[in-house]
Amino acid sequence: MLSVPYEKYTACNAVQGHNMKVLVTGGAGFIGSHIVDFLIEAGHAPVVVDNFSTGDPGNLAAEVPVHTVDIRDRPALARVFASEQPELVCHQAAQMSVGRSVQQPSYDAEVNLLGLLNTLELAQSTGVRRFVFASSGGVLYGDVSEPADETHPANPISPYGISKWAGEQYLRFFTREHGLETVALRYSNVYGPRQNPHGEAGVVAIFCQRMRRGEPTVINGDGRYLRDYVYVTDVARANLLALTESLPAPHVAFNVGTGLGLDVNELADLLRRFMQQTLQEQGVTAIVPESSHGPARPGDLRSNLVDASLLNRTWDWKPTWTIEAGLRRTVDWFAHKA
Ligand SMILES: NC(=O)c1ccc[n+]([C@@H]2O[C@H](COP(=O)([O-])OP(=O)(O)OC[C@H]3O[C@@H](n4cnc5c(N)ncnc54)[C@H](O)[C@@H]3O)[C@@H](O)[C@H]2O)c1
Repeated sequence: MLSVPYEKYTACNAVQGHNMKVLVTGGAGFIGSHIVDFLIEAGHAPVVVDNFSTGDPGNLAAEVPVHTVDIRDRPALARVFASEQPELVCHQAAQMSVGRSVQQPSYDAEVNLLGLLNTLELAQSTGVRRFVFASSGGVLYGDVSEPADETHPANPISPYGISKWAGEQYLRFFTREHGLETVALRYSNVYGPRQNPHGEAGVVAIFCQRMRRGEPTVINGDGRYLRDYVYVTDVARANLLALTESLPAPHVAFNVGTGLGLDVNELADLLRRFMQQTLQEQGVTAIVPESSHGPARPGDLRSNLVDASLLNRTWDWKPTWTIEAGLRRTVDWFAHKA
């Protein structure tokens, strides 16, 4: 079990007050930029650290302070903590390519472990109260036929998965040793506007972009790979809760997902139908081609779902976007962006 048992600790109070300074690493990325939007909406003051390796300045409102800093660059990161003095940290920055982690495990560890440790050490030494970390249910739980809860044994097989798992252990260490409140949010498959379509992950973004351009889309193998797709603003809301609500324990790990499975064939059909409708509304007459099937990708999990009941019981979090509504919005965003 990765999360500390509740009974070992007393609850931590909510982080009070508006206009809290929140350092969001990876804040120019897909999920990070939606978190920044939520923080602004809630009256807080986000500050972004990003090296723009995959992030996009266009994801952020002009008034958001941005530090173009790599989390591996300890002195530069220390200057950001010294000048901004954040009260909370939301750590989204990561090397998130499983393939690259397999090719270059040491690079993955530099960003995902040493970069995390730089951020944790600076948070601890400058008096940050709470640290929220983007973890991954997908890479921790592996193949599961039923939605896995947080007690499901971790079995990471890629260096990326190992770094997320080890990252959670470091969070626990900082809580035990230094009293830093830490929360790991184990996302399922996140999708929505602003997702980068150039990576290997993010099938929704890749298919949206290709369908919009009339390019062929290829489903790996038979496409019967069940995934738990959660809309990005539901994930951003979970981050806001994790940053500001009272915690049941000083270190907690929560799943963030819907518990509902959709396979890639069904997903491709929905995307094609929605993209076709959206293009028609735009007066574009092109036919969005049906997806074809290519070779299976070695190591792809058959089924990967997370059970977010703990998050629901703790803060009444539940996904507010159905898959149809979320995909429609995402298709619409890609159709208007291209
Ligand atoms: N997208 C998903 O489905 C998913 C699922 C599970 C976990 N996660 C985790 O969520 C987090 C956010 O992912 P995302 O999907 O928004 O990806 P993303 O690539 O859009 O965001 C990552 C951000 O971190 C920045 N970054 C990367 N390396 C950095 C470095 N060394 N220094 C500073 N900034 C750096 C990138 O420029 C980017 O803006 C990551 O930690 C990822 O591992 C994502």
